[in-house]
Amino acid sequence: MKAIAPILLLAGSAAGQQAAYGQCGGINYSGPTNCVAGYACTSYNPYYYQCVPGTAAPASTSTSKTSTSTAVTTTSTSKSTSSVKTSSTSSVKTSTSTSSSTKTSSTAGPVATGFAKTNGLQFEIDGVTKYFAGTNCYWCGFLTSNADVDHVFADMAAAGFKVVRVWGFNDVNSVPGSGTVWYQYLSASGSQINTGANGLQRLDYVVSSAAAHGLKLIINFVNNWNDYGGINAYVNAFGGSASTWYTNTAAQAQYQKYIEAVVSRYKTSTAVFAWELANEPRCSGCDASVIYNWAATTSRYIKSLDSNHMVTLGDEGFGPLAGGDGSYPYQAGAGGYTWVDNLNITTLDFGTLHLYPDSWGQPYNWGNLWVSTHGAACVAAGKPCILEEYGGTNNCTIENPWQATALKTKGIAGDMFWQYGDTLPSCNCQTSQDGNTVFYNQGNWDCMVTQHVAAINAL
Ligand SMILES: *[C@@H]1O[C@H](CO)[C@@H](O)[C@H](O)[C@H]1NC(C)=O
Ligand SMILES: *[C@@H]1O[C@H](CO)[C@@H](O)[C@H](O)[C@H]1NC(C)=O
Ligand SMILES: *[C@@H]1O[C@H](CO)[C@@H](O)[C@H](O)[C@H]1NC(C)=O
Repeated sequence: MKAIAPILLLAGSAAGQQAAYGQCGGINYSGPTNCVAGYACTSYNPYYYQCVPGTAAPASTSTSKTSTSTAVTTTSTSKSTSSVKTSSTSSVKTSTSTSSSTKTSSTAGPVATGFAKTNGLQFEIDGVTKYFAGTNCYWCGFLTSNADVDHVFADMAAAGFKVVRVWGFNDVNSVPGSGTVWYQYLSASGSQINTGANGLQRLDYVVSSAAAHGLKLIINFVNNWNDYGGINAYVNAFGGSASTWYTNTAAQAQYQKYIEAVVSRYKTSTAVFAWELANEPRCSGCDASVIYNWAATTSRYIKSLDSNHMVTLGDEGFGPLAGGDGSYPYQAGAGGYTWVDNLNITTLDFGTLHLYPDSWGQPYNWGNLWVSTHGAACVAAGKPCILEEYGGTNNCTIENPWQATALKTKGIAGDMFWQYGDTLPSCNCQTSQDGNTVFYNQGNWDCMVTQHVAAINAL
């Protein structure tokens, strides 16, 4: 995920230097190609190079809010997450003190009834089959205050969201101080899954609070990008590269161990909507069979652990597709996989697609073709799909048409904008602003959320 954010950039900088997270290269790009100190110009695809923190610079810090003492979290700079862009290092987030919250209740919600499931080309959630609205909260599981989690989920429920996507990973190669949340330490000489108060107990609270607020979670297991560790953290521990990670025996064994640790905690919780293999997996220069085989193996493994919940891949949608225009995202090399083939893996219950025209060198209105061609493929495969992330500078003129297209496209069963923002009570501070953040009841909230939810409810 994620997108980036040209915007946010801090002001620019002078003389020919691009600001943090600004574009610094790509086809037909004519702006500055050098980045401010601490940032390196990194190519994500032929159309988009971005200034991301240089290797030695975890310090970068955030723009925004930064954390204050308390917890908070959030922030970050960048985007975290996602896609293209982003790579930021993690650093940012998490700050925090453990103190607050500690309590944790773990828990899993009511047992055994009412698991969300597919129903034809849509989803049945709590007995209702219909298009749903949702959003992304990558940082929800990194909050250290239970009251903050409850506040965010209460706001989301009030907004009418049904499904929320959270990061179910937070991988490190060196154990941070006790106040910082991390889930898994990776090392060839002995990895460790953190089930403590600053570990998976934070995710426990997210699951229990989601259950209490009637929300369903998509929980994923690894990041393609370096935020919160990602595939890179496995590569640091087990060797190989981002492309060989999918077939690296030691890395895959640990990845499956981690999956088992998370799945076993919430196997009976009706607050889990689906397990997701990864955030935006790509395999540069690979044959499409690499991701296909990895996705088939991993999803089969998850189904063997848990037959209650749905499983999805988390891919962005790349590769040739009927009706596509042959632009970069529709080319075979864009993600190193063929999305439409992945869709036919029988242990994947539904498909995902993301949409970031800025990062992919496409005009904004191209997004409608992207959504409709994927919807047609979902219909052909007989599975629902979710427009799981989308961002276009948090501008309703740009994004409302995509929402309208998703809503009327058969095969698209829900959409979840990137990303949700809120004000946390513990610090009275705002969560991550990456240029695509829609803050609860502020700015473009009404045209991005309220009106869209009303249109969905009117169906
Ligand atoms: C780049 O600019 C040239 C000249 O304006 C144009 O013909 C071409 O389509 C542009 N390429 C992209 C990918 O936008
Ligand atoms: C799914 O797609 C792959 C790759 O094209 C193909 O080899 C396989 O036969 C397909 N499987 C099914 C069940 O359609
Ligand atoms: C939103 O996008 C439209 C279309 O690209 C543009 O004309 C408008 O200036 C943008 N609004 C803002 C506030 O950036």
